[in-house]
Amino acid sequence: MKVLRMTINPFDKKSKIRKEIFSNFSEHLGRCVYDGIYVGKDSEVPNIEGFRKDVIEAFRQIKLPVLRWPGGCFADEYHWTDGIGELSERKKMINTNWGGVVEDNSFGTHEFMRLCELVGCEPYISGNVGSGTVEELAKWIEYITFDGVSPMADLRRKNGRDKPWKLKYLGIGNESWGCGGSMTPEFYCDNYRRYATFCREYSGNKLFKIACGPNSDDYNWTDVCMKNIGAWGMQGLSLHYYTVPTGNWDHKGSATEFSEEEYYETISRTRFMDTLLTRHGGIMDRYDPMHKVGLIVDEWGTWYDVEPGTNPGFLYQQNTMRDAVVAAVNLDIFNAHSDRVYMANIAQAVNVLQAILLTEGGVTVKTPTYHVFDLYKEHQDAELIYSHIENETEGGVPCISQSASTTENGAVTITLSNCSLDRTFGIDVGTAFGEIAAASGRILTGEVHEKNDFEHPENVVIKPLDVKTENGNAFVELPPCSVAAIALTLK
Ligand code: AHR
Repeated sequence: MKVLRMTINPFDKKSKIRKEIFSNFSEHLGRCVYDGIYVGKDSEVPNIEGFRKDVIEAFRQIKLPVLRWPGGCFADEYHWTDGIGELSERKKMINTNWGGVVEDNSFGTHEFMRLCELVGCEPYISGNVGSGTVEELAKWIEYITFDGVSPMADLRRKNGRDKPWKLKYLGIGNESWGCGGSMTPEFYCDNYRRYATFCREYSGNKLFKIACGPNSDDYNWTDVCMKNIGAWGMQGLSLHYYTVPTGNWDHKGSATEFSEEEYYETISRTRFMDTLLTRHGGIMDRYDPMHKVGLIVDEWGTWYDVEPGTNPGFLYQQNTMRDAVVAAVNLDIFNAHSDRVYMANIAQAVNVLQAILLTEGGVTVKTPTYHVFDLYKEHQDAELIYSHIENETEGGVPCISQSASTTENGAVTITLSNCSLDRTFGIDVGTAFGEIAAASGRILTGEVHEKNDFEHPENVVIKPLDVKTENGNAFVELPPCSVAAIALTLK
């Protein structure tokens, strides 16, 4: 077994790993919101006010910080007034983006804000710029956040909510270069400035406005947004990048049946996130050296062909240990760029793309990706510290990915993943100052095709990991295809 040396320096603090990096996304798409999160009060599925009980508990367990809603592409065709008031009077619409199904608007603003209250997470609302109006978005903010007397605040009260909610994260358009309006960056920026002007900060509510950023490596889009909007009018700029194993959107590949070659290709393509953050971040540095504007990676994850026999418009896919490694690699990349990445939202929360949860009837399954979020939760709001590992490569990609962070009380968390499919590595962790006095670990591992399904919901779960401490160092064995979290106590 090859032993790799890893060095950490808890006194070399880099940047805060904002907890928002571990956020999620829920769109009116397939069975994400309906079935996945919301079943209605009369459902036989155990629920709290219509929200699946097990889903709320699962979100709480990983300390979900932010949930983005209602889209995605859906957001730019969503008219919020259709989703308020008496259920029986809510307008029905066709979800033109996703499967052409009927959207009955039974999950609207009140339901989303209540869900966030129950989970204890911050809401992130994506406003309709593509097919909406400035007035419509302005009134939505007024409806949600205004405490005084006004037509929208009065309407909210009439609909059963006296006190306003707090709303921090507001997206002004989604993928405005594509499904959100096919705009040029210049046209979008002009629109952004107009919309943002009328999104008022009522009753002490502070908005964190997020402009629609680039699609993957469209560096010109970032440049134009930074030049034409900049720190003047936005706090965040979004970035969307999906990992498509084949790189071919017509044949993306199966979620569960893939070759070794396709696996390493997936890891290689997911590592492109690092290049994207470096290059977009570099452009942002030119206009915003003080890092006032955060990069908000509000859509990321694997995108495969849908599960055979499911609605192609529903984007339902299974999730294996490959996805767990993809999640770990991405989260480590976000941590490494946490001086610029202020939030990241994996797509999506339930039953869509790289979902953390899958549901069928009354059963909810935690995917391998979910468990990675569980392993990484100690990084939330901790300080990224220096770490370096002697690495090996396999299939053209580095085998080990890592992050290290420390909290105010001096606790250190290390996350490590081994993407090699056949090599176990020993990791010898040493600290630049002091000694490691005690250590404990947890690990997720399995053959790369292993998954959790409705027959075997606990096939892949987190287990304890043996960590030895000797002569001030810590030592672990990382089996092939594994993700681990190690807690260190230093002296
Ligand atoms: O997450 C699925 C879709 O991917 C979103 O609706 C859209 O924003 C992106 O293209």
